[in-house]
Amino acid sequence: MSNISIIGSGSIARAIGALALKGGNTVEVIGRDADKAGALARALGNGATTGAWGAAPSGDIVILAVLFAGAVPVVSEYGEGLADKIVVDITNPFNADATGLAVPHDTSVAQMVADAAPASTHVVKAFNTLFSHVLASGDPVDVFMAGDDRRAKASVSAFIASLGLRPRDAGDLSMAHWLESASLLEMGLARNGLGFNISLGVNLGRTE
Ligand SMILES: NC(=O)c1ccc[n+]([C@@H]2O[C@H](COP(=O)([O-])OP(=O)(O)OC[C@H]3O[C@@H](n4cnc5c(N)ncnc54)[C@H](OP(=O)(O)O)[C@@H]3O)[C@@H](O)[C@H]2O)c1
Repeated sequence: MSNISIIGSGSIARAIGALALKGGNTVEVIGRDADKAGALARALGNGATTGAWGAAPSGDIVILAVLFAGAVPVVSEYGEGLADKIVVDITNPFNADATGLAVPHDTSVAQMVADAAPASTHVVKAFNTLFSHVLASGDPVDVFMAGDDRRAKASVSAFIASLGLRPRDAGDLSMAHWLESASLLEMGLARNGLGFNISLGVNLGRTE
């Protein structure tokens, strides 16, 4: 069981929050609009709470579920409130028509978040390749993740498994660039024949 705080109260916050509660975790919803955060916590039910914007989140794992342009400003604003926390960055830094990345090609928004966070914060990229409605369906999909700290990734893996999903460790935080690119691949596949009811996953080869 994990204690989760979710910063943001949009569609991905709703999907992860619902799965988290179903999986036996605690959920705190934090939004810059307190009314929206409260409405989401009430809709989620099952003991979901709200936290004050800017105060240190109560969760050990903090899901950063804001639009990508807000990710670094929000982490900077929280500052030491995120010390010793695991921050899970789920954002996709798409350009306006989602045909390219809006961050430089030698980095990722996850790396920029890590650079803005306190030194004791462990940033893990995860969930960004999953459409919110696919997550909400509860299908046992693969969840790619990347991060530098093994213990933080073990905690996030356990959280992902509690949702009934499959954690797939792609490596250190430098891989976040490729996870963000993978979401572009998914957008291309969705727009060019497959539709949006898809997820990227791994086929495990048979060893026999
Ligand atoms: N939806 C998906 O299928 C999906 C899939 C994978 C990843 N993602 C990523 O998840 C993130 C959220 O997506 P979403 O679909 O949940 O978006 P959404 O429904 O539009 O919700 C966005 C949330 O972020 C908050 N927010 C935006 N800018 C902010 C800022 N500067 N400071 C503080 N809060 C801010 C919004 O607050 P207000 O309500 O006050 O504006 C809202 O609570 C995005 O980065 C997106 O790339 C989404």
